[in-house]
Amino acid sequence: MAEESSFIFSRREFLGYSAAAAALAMLPPALAACAGGGETYEQAEAATWRTAQFDEGEMQAHVREFIRCATLAPNGHNAQAWQFSYQGDTVTLRPDFNRRLAVVDPDDRELYISLGAALENLAVAAGAAGYTAGVTYFPDTEPDGVTVRLTAAAATGTELAAAISQRQTTRSAYDGRPLAGEDLARLQALPLEPGAGLHWFASGDELESLATWVMQGDRAQYADGAFVGELVTWLRFNDAEALRSHDGLYARCSGNPTAPRWVGRMFLALTGAEGMAKQDAEKLRSSSGAVLFVSAADDRHAWVDTGRVYERFALTAAHLGIQTAFLNQPVEVSSLRAQMQTDLALGDAYPQLLVRYGHAAAMPRSLRRPLEEVLV
Ligand SMILES: Cc1cc2nc3c(=O)[nH]c(=O)nc-3n(C[C@H](O)[C@H](O)[C@H](O)COP(=O)(O)O)c2cc1C
Repeated sequence: MAEESSFIFSRREFLGYSAAAAALAMLPPALAACAGGGETYEQAEAATWRTAQFDEGEMQAHVREFIRCATLAPNGHNAQAWQFSYQGDTVTLRPDFNRRLAVVDPDDRELYISLGAALENLAVAAGAAGYTAGVTYFPDTEPDGVTVRLTAAAATGTELAAAISQRQTTRSAYDGRPLAGEDLARLQALPLEPGAGLHWFASGDELESLATWVMQGDRAQYADGAFVGELVTWLRFNDAEALRSHDGLYARCSGNPTAPRWVGRMFLALTGAEGMAKQDAEKLRSSSGAVLFVSAADDRHAWVDTGRVYERFALTAAHLGIQTAFLNQPVEVSSLRAQMQTDLALGDAYPQLLVRYGHAAAMPRSLRRPLEEVLV
């Protein structure tokens, strides 16, 4: 509640703060990083995203590296609401409900999608190191999670495994260039899980109609104090905050300058719902296209599979030098999600993720907590 009330600034307060804010926002990131106890953001970023190594050695050493690859998956608000364990040849992935996003994701739908993306990274990394991943969903021994049994096999998919440390959610505007025909064809031929489907939006008119949905989603979410309150707790406005937690949404990953928390909150408040809606519509218009991930069922299994398919898409795109980012607002607002299902004539298919793609320079990368914090 305190989160919500201090979110709004009066005009007088804003005028009083603005000069200091402008100066602080211009501080070089390296200076701000001093508060992080020596480690700079760039060092933490390089360590987080180092390329996976599968040297000669015991299976146990490999398994830890597979799990590290799993933690590099995209996940809602970078809350990293997951835990891992391993015993012998079996790895378990389960939700960490202490990190759930109760407001934006009340049914844990996106939490399970995130877990599915982590599962896909783990399976891809294991494949490249010479193991097949036999997945069991929600077994009796692990009713909220999935287990993965690793069996030695010929190595596969090294290109996608290399893309695990190249993929990112690139939230900047893209350059509008269409994808090369063969790249689009490769994405459109992506192997799907049972019940999963992809709806493509490529023409200017189609993107424009999607922009209307995204703007409605932004307006609904940013007018909701509980949504903004939850978001703010996961925003990391400067290097010191990002380095303290190694989670959350770091300002520079979204193209924003670093700033003290109160300044960042002020800018967020000043942008407001309409500002967010306009920015997101422009980002969609700058993209080569967008794709809506749908599923025949709307349960935990379908959500995990949606995450697997999304990550397969994102790794393939990253391998081809194509950037991706989410615009999930209309899928996260339940009334809009239902309306979308009808208006887009999706029939019985449920909208799960809305993703844009295109060409742009890479952005700074988000951090992950060390393995010790997610291994139980
Ligand atoms: C299920 C799910 C929903 C997400 N929704 C959004 C979204 O609506 N907007 C956004 O900018 N990013 C969204 N993200 C991206 C995450 O914020 C991002 O994965 C996380 O911050 C880590 O950054 P990275 O993907 O660059 O590694 C979503 C990710 C997942 C898996």
